[in-house]
Amino acid sequence: MIKEELIKLAREARSNAYAPYSQFRVGAAVLGINGKAYTGCNIENASYGMTVCAERVAIFKMVSEGCYKFKALAVVGSEKEDGAPCLACRQVMTEFCESFETPVYCGGPDNKIFEHTMNEICPFPFVMFEKNADKI
Ligand code: THU
Repeated sequence: MIKEELIKLAREARSNAYAPYSQFRVGAAVLGINGKAYTGCNIENASYGMTVCAERVAIFKMVSEGCYKFKALAVVGSEKEDGAPCLACRQVMTEFCESFETPVYCGGPDNKIFEHTMNEICPFPFVMFEKNADKI
């Protein structure tokens, strides 16, 4: 699956965003190592801190269906400016990305796609090396 397709899935998922408090709609999509794509949108709550970001919804859907690694992640926010995953999501992404080279595609204005590696956006994550050394 090419990055434009993953961005398209993220954009479609954004239309389901539940964002009555911020009005900031986000969509995300991950490509699992099993070849399947999983999408997510942000889901807000009246108790604001209970909000879950689009990236984590997509990743958790993947994991809950038995796939534990993604090959690429796409996220689309406002598209008026460059978007990038929040740091809580970057930590979760670290847990489930295939490698430090896994690409992260961020949809920007004018259909531009900004591409970064996991290593670039989260170079020094918290990892329990004793337990997870084989994972990333
Ligand atoms: N949001 C995401 O879905 N992903 C991010 O990486 C950053 C923020 C959502 C959370 C909240 O619903 C809205 O954007 C404003 O912060």
